[in-house]
Amino acid sequence: MKNISNSPEETLQLGKSLGGSLEAGDIILLFGDLGAGKTCFTQGVCHGLELDKNFYIRSPTFTLINEYPGRLPIYHIDLYRLDTLEEIYSLGLEEVLYSQGITIIEWAEKLRSSQKPEQLLLNIQDRIEINIKIISDSQREFTLNTFLPAPRSSPDFTLL
Ligand SMILES: Nc1ncnc2c1ncn2[C@@H]1O[C@H](COP(=O)(O)OP(=O)(O)OP(=O)(O)O)[C@@H](O)[C@H]1O
Ligand SMILES: [Mg+2]
Repeated sequence: MKNISNSPEETLQLGKSLGGSLEAGDIILLFGDLGAGKTCFTQGVCHGLELDKNFYIRSPTFTLINEYPGRLPIYHIDLYRLDTLEEIYSLGLEEVLYSQGITIIEWAEKLRSSQKPEQLLLNIQDRIEINIKIISDSQREFTLNTFLPAPRSSPDFTLL
């Protein structure tokens, strides 16, 4: 499913729509270049998960993993600075990935193994993938792909 966002506000709305439809244990993988809008989208997802609007969400580039109290616990991870498998494995992500919270990962490109690009590290199977493409200064193309077990209804992904 594709959507065009024309502003950071629309990106927040798209994220909010997705956040409202997430279920315990969901994993969101965000792909896209520097400044694509991964953190902006994450803020919207957090609002959709009923995190207080005043909660400040910043890219956890230095802290690596942030936790926020939404209607479900939210774990926000940024893999930008991690390069080796050892570094990624040392985060202990299994604990959050297989928890009843929501895990949101920026720079999910780093989870693709170079030998087998169709496979993701840490044995991630069920997930929602969001690809963000920069079209212009203010436009972004969002593509959503879901890899979820059959009984699960599709997550929302619309401009409200
Ligand atoms: N349609 C849009 N959606 C989201 N952000 C936009 C849009 N148009 C312009 N922007 C700008 O793009 C930037 C997106 O920043 P953001 O921190 O969300 O990107 P990021 O993908 O998380 O980058 P990084 O890889 O550094 O973590 C902001 O400065 C924002 O104002
Ligand atoms: Mg970011």
